[in-house]
Amino acid sequence: MQVHEAIQKRLSIRRYADASIPAEHLDMLFKALQLAASANNYQNWEFVFVKEPELKQRLVPACSHQRFVRECAYFIAGVADPTLKWHMVDITIALTQFALQAVEFGYGTCWIGAFDEAHVKRILNIPTDKKVVICMTLGLPAGKHIPRGRKGLEEMIYLNQFGRRFEAI
Ligand SMILES: Cc1cc2nc3c(=O)[nH]c(=O)nc-3n(C[C@H](O)[C@H](O)[C@H](O)COP(=O)(O)O)c2cc1C
Repeated sequence: MQVHEAIQKRLSIRRYADASIPAEHLDMLFKALQLAASANNYQNWEFVFVKEPELKQRLVPACSHQRFVRECAYFIAGVADPTLKWHMVDITIALTQFALQAVEFGYGTCWIGAFDEAHVKRILNIPTDKKVVICMTLGLPAGKHIPRGRKGLEEMIYLNQFGRRFEAI
């Protein structure tokens, strides 16, 4: 699969089949995180992969009762040292690569921003001086998922000056 296909196929997956992820896929998914760009190459990121069903069940109320958190193969918490300036960007770049790599293998992901940080930290034993920046679910999609709409390019791409139309669009 080419990168542009993965970008076009990716969409948030909120229903998952009961399927596990083989080690060779996990390996490549971990690499997608590891090889991401980061500010000063600080690699200010750690990722807790949650597979244990009982833990995933406990994460549901910590994630605004989003039930698919328990159905995914892995719930991932993206953890960083919040004292470094670009921590939110670094984690986001890594998980974006991860989400695209997942598409190539036929998996789906969903960003999880609706979570109670203190609650997630307690469940996963994350140190208090670390920040849970964002979470993500990963698994084999089940059922049909409909792509969501997007703004037109003319509303977001400008040439030379803010608000000036990029005529090629
Ligand atoms: C930072 C961030 C937080 C998000 N949090 C949630 C969430 O808690 N639950 C959820 O179902 N989707 C969440 N999403 C997914 C968005 O709703 C989704 O990306 C958006 O509607 C566009 O749809 P698409 O991903 O299918 O293209 C989040 C996305 C981002 C980038």
